[in-house]
Amino acid sequence: MSEFQLLKNVEPKSAAVRDAIMADPGFGNHFTDHMAHIRYTTEQGWHGHEVKPYGPLLLDPAAAVLHYAQEIFEGLKAYRHADGSVWTFRPERNAERFNLSAERLALPQLPVEDFVESLRATVEQDAAWVPTPKDASDEVSLYLRPFMIASESFLGVRPSQTVDYYVIASPAGAYFEGGAKGVDIWLSDKLKRASMGGTGFAKCGGNYAASMTAQAEAAAHGCKQVMFTDAAESRYLEELGGMNLMLVTQDGELITPELGDSILNGVTRRSLLELAPSLGLTPIERKIEVSEWVKGVESGYITEAFACGTAAVITPIGRLLGNEVEVDMGDTGEYTTKLRTALLDIQYGRAEDTNNWLVRL
Ligand code: COI
Repeated sequence: MSEFQLLKNVEPKSAAVRDAIMADPGFGNHFTDHMAHIRYTTEQGWHGHEVKPYGPLLLDPAAAVLHYAQEIFEGLKAYRHADGSVWTFRPERNAERFNLSAERLALPQLPVEDFVESLRATVEQDAAWVPTPKDASDEVSLYLRPFMIASESFLGVRPSQTVDYYVIASPAGAYFEGGAKGVDIWLSDKLKRASMGGTGFAKCGGNYAASMTAQAEAAAHGCKQVMFTDAAESRYLEELGGMNLMLVTQDGELITPELGDSILNGVTRRSLLELAPSLGLTPIERKIEVSEWVKGVESGYITEAFACGTAAVITPIGRLLGNEVEVDMGDTGEYTTKLRTALLDIQYGRAEDTNNWLVRL
């Protein structure tokens, strides 16, 4: 593992500007003073580990990422505990998924230690940017965004031989305005996000680009997220534009679409499945038909629905709307609240971390 060299930011934001941002950060609007960087070339491998001032990247207009979207990213959070210490949640899981995404996008593998150390090096410099939650309902954190781009200037279509890896950080509140209140989601029946053999399981920019038109359609119908179904038959629920889906049944099952080529293996998704038994829920990963959700709510079999992800944490779903669908989930359910509290309490150090999920930064 290599040491990260520090290039100090001579013009960090003043404490007054930082405090004003941190008082109401929103999500993804503001960035800290530094960013981590490592360069890869086929001759030298990963080298030049550094933490430098946050700022624009100098990219050649012919850089492969700009033309062929050879890019992957991750999302994690740094949480401040009551004693002032700063922790992150299961970063090795993100590092492993990052490498799966890298493999699919023909990008180089980044050692797990470099991934975790790059988070630590960033947070060490910008520790003042990790917000302190006011109370247990406050989900403020420092959102960490590692990403890897193909930076070789070359217009032929083949894997780039020069690659850059960065970590940027952004103080964050709730992803959805209104926090843990129910959001409406739009069922996309025509536009698809991913298909068999494609890149749906990878966290790459292309998947999100493919979701934007459907996301705009959702917004036009007053919805905050789009729900995608399988590309082949439009029959099975897959995932939302930027998060996984979970449903709770009357008989205490926590069900979520099973993983495959087209579904992201969310760290929050996995953690909730692992926490479920301690809250009296049976975790089940399987195919779920759209009609099972719609009819299940009518019959009382499906009692709760929520979106989950690093950014979304656990956000209850208010209504599922679509061209031929309207399902009202009513008020936030008991298990949605219990799971959300259990997860956040671990992340913020308010409950014992019996699974050793937290890593100190
Ligand atoms: C995350 O949850 O970290 C994501 O990358 C999803 C995105 C909608 C912000």
